[in-house]
Amino acid sequence: MRAEPRAVPGERGPRARVVNAPILEARELHCVFEVSAGFMRPRRPLRAVNGVDLRLGKGESLGLVGESGCGKTTVAMMLLGLISPSGGEVTMDGEPMAGLDQREISRRIQPIFQDPYSSLNPRKTVAEIISLPLRVHKLGGPAEWRSQVTEIMDLVGLSQRYANNLPNQLSGGQRQRVAIARALVMRPEVVICDEPTSSLDVSVQSQILNLLLDLQRELGLTYLLISHNLAVVEHMATRVAVMYLGRIVEEALTEELFRNPRHPYTQALLASVLTPEPGLGVPDTHLGAAFPNPIEPPSGCTFHPRCPHVMPACSAVAPIPVTHESTTLVECHLFSEARTAAGPDTVPQQVEDEARPAAAGIGGAA
Ligand SMILES: Nc1ncnc2c1ncn2[C@@H]1O[C@H](COP(=O)(O)OP(=O)(O)O)[C@@H](O)[C@H]1O
Ligand code: SF4
Ligand SMILES: [Mg+2]
Repeated sequence: MRAEPRAVPGERGPRARVVNAPILEARELHCVFEVSAGFMRPRRPLRAVNGVDLRLGKGESLGLVGESGCGKTTVAMMLLGLISPSGGEVTMDGEPMAGLDQREISRRIQPIFQDPYSSLNPRKTVAEIISLPLRVHKLGGPAEWRSQVTEIMDLVGLSQRYANNLPNQLSGGQRQRVAIARALVMRPEVVICDEPTSSLDVSVQSQILNLLLDLQRELGLTYLLISHNLAVVEHMATRVAVMYLGRIVEEALTEELFRNPRHPYTQALLASVLTPEPGLGVPDTHLGAAFPNPIEPPSGCTFHPRCPHVMPACSAVAPIPVTHESTTLVECHLFSEARTAAGPDTVPQQVEDEARPAAAGIGGAA
């Protein structure tokens, strides 16, 4: 049996956070894509994920937020076993995922993707789409599949009269309900929701989010909720991890993160204006310089070209993660040893002062 992690205030390293017994865990996860650099040029490495540690505790909702291109979906694909990590490992209940059968993984972890338009087969009926995982896994026969489809359609609020419809005969919200039903029909333990409402009309977004919350309570699900929309994360997640250019730069309980964001990037995200276009997915962070090219990441702290608190050391030395108040992790020189000499939980006053109005701003947006 695995020992439960104990949190030590001020302990260095990413393993000091308290969560429920982890069902899914990523350790030092890396993903490098070799991408084209142009005609007749050698391919170059793009570090989409660059040393990510994540723990998903049983029954919790972990929010993963960050700008488009920071590596959220790539993390999700590795957790789903759909991309092999270039380094590090994923474990499920302590077992290395690399040694598990993909069928076993997909029985226990299911995704819900952003776009129900492209993730559903346009030539299959709703009943066929929902029952596909049961058929692939050879669980029961036609009578059992029919009864499972009926049950799960009721659970996700889809009328039985749509069972023989094709996806293009449904609204966006109904299509996402089909995608949710398909994800849940095998009763997985973990559901990875990657921007589950970003492509939907604003009017149906909250219905789908509330459905996900109800289903979590009813079925005891564990969620990884990926979203650029902080209001969604605040509503849904118990804990939040903030990602920037392939790394987790801050992680905290949701209430704590919104009340007292520590990392300058988290502060900028909380102060950001949500885009009016639900499908766009990129908040206006008011950070000036554009999101950096991951093929040529900035030196030292990769956030330094955009950081309002940048110091001389920031462009030379990469900060390492430090924990505060046992449940918060932050990766920024403002919180390194020298800065926190007065005590491991000390937060520079300047950062606290600037954080509060930003947090209030996003609360209003929700
Ligand atoms: N299959 C791929 N091949 C090459 N580059 C990729 C691939 N998938 C993602 N990337 C790159 O990896 C980075 C992270 O992408 P992604 O994980 O999709 O970010 P996010 O989900 O946060 O928007 C981006 O720069 C993206 O262009
Ligand atoms: S390490 Fe420096 S540049 Fe990076 S977030 Fe902290 S203060 Fe800003
Ligand atoms: Mg994505």
